[in-house]
Amino acid sequence: MSQSAFTISHDQLPALVQAMPKAELHMHIEGSLEPELIFALAQRNGVTLSYPSVEALRAAYAFTDLQSFLDIYYAGASVLLKEQDFHDMAWAYFLKAKADNVVHAELFFDPQTHTGRGVPFEVVIQGLHSACERARTELGVSSALIMCFLRHLSEEDALKTLEQSLPYRHLFIGVGLDSSERGHPPEKFARVFARCKELGLHLVAHAGEEGPPEYIINALDVLHVERIDHGVRCVEDPELVKRLARQGTALTVCPLSNIKLCVFKTMKEHNLKTLLQHGLKVTINSDDPAYFGGYMNQNFLATFADLDLDANDAYTLACNSFEASFVSDSVKAGWIAQLDQTFARFNAQS
Ligand code: HPA
Ligand code: ZN
Repeated sequence: MSQSAFTISHDQLPALVQAMPKAELHMHIEGSLEPELIFALAQRNGVTLSYPSVEALRAAYAFTDLQSFLDIYYAGASVLLKEQDFHDMAWAYFLKAKADNVVHAELFFDPQTHTGRGVPFEVVIQGLHSACERARTELGVSSALIMCFLRHLSEEDALKTLEQSLPYRHLFIGVGLDSSERGHPPEKFARVFARCKELGLHLVAHAGEEGPPEYIINALDVLHVERIDHGVRCVEDPELVKRLARQGTALTVCPLSNIKLCVFKTMKEHNLKTLLQHGLKVTINSDDPAYFGGYMNQNFLATFADLDLDANDAYTLACNSFEASFVSDSVKAGWIAQLDQTFARFNAQS
């Protein structure tokens, strides 16, 4: 269906956003741990938390930047010890995804956050994998795992993690780069990404969330990534914007995350609409939904409420999420056909 063909009215947008099928391409599964589940797992595993209650923990979610969030995020993950814990965490996410009409999710996981505490790699990946299988069979939600390297740690540590992952190579589709961005440029991980490329893994990296546009350029030129996670600071370099548009490189943008971590002061100041106007392949994602105030549809609704976006933008964003996903062209086409049907139904009612 061609763009700008929709006459769906503004008051229909919330229902349209809810109903349309979509893919989530940027979410950290450890960032879906709700305070209630953190406390339940702490109790189950005999872990002592430094917060007295669910309410006290939630009240601590007042972040000033990425690092202030990461400190709490890594503390929250300390309750994950057993395979069942990883399964329960991912299953809780898939229930939320299903409710938001997410038909496909590519999930980041951070093995070093767990292996660094003595939790075996196998425990992490088997727990997550069994939840992915269950989501497929019980919910009809498709998913895949992307292993992220923590950029505040050394490249040697990332190489060691890659070695540990090799017996489970068939259980994940790609690698990414996350954690503290500033001071940890992409080129720090050139060798490990080269090795991952040889292994046929998909490659993505966080860049241009807090870091400068050069980090996006080096993620593309040195790491050879296929998508940029966040990437919102690309607008500071007009040549880079033109290049991203020309190449059709996807930017997996996370609006509520960007507000919570003070990348933009308010949603009205978010540059998502500007990015779309530059012809960039933008997608909307939840990043760490338990920490940032919302899952997929809440990210869509908050963005649409403040940025004067319309049904054509909703179509573009959902279509981009499928096109930028790492599934086959025929699977993408099936989901885009479902998307077209949803829009045709709303268009006929308007
Ligand atoms: N940025 C970088 N690293 C992360 C994030 C993020 O938003 N969430 C979890 N790890
Ligand atoms: Zn992220």
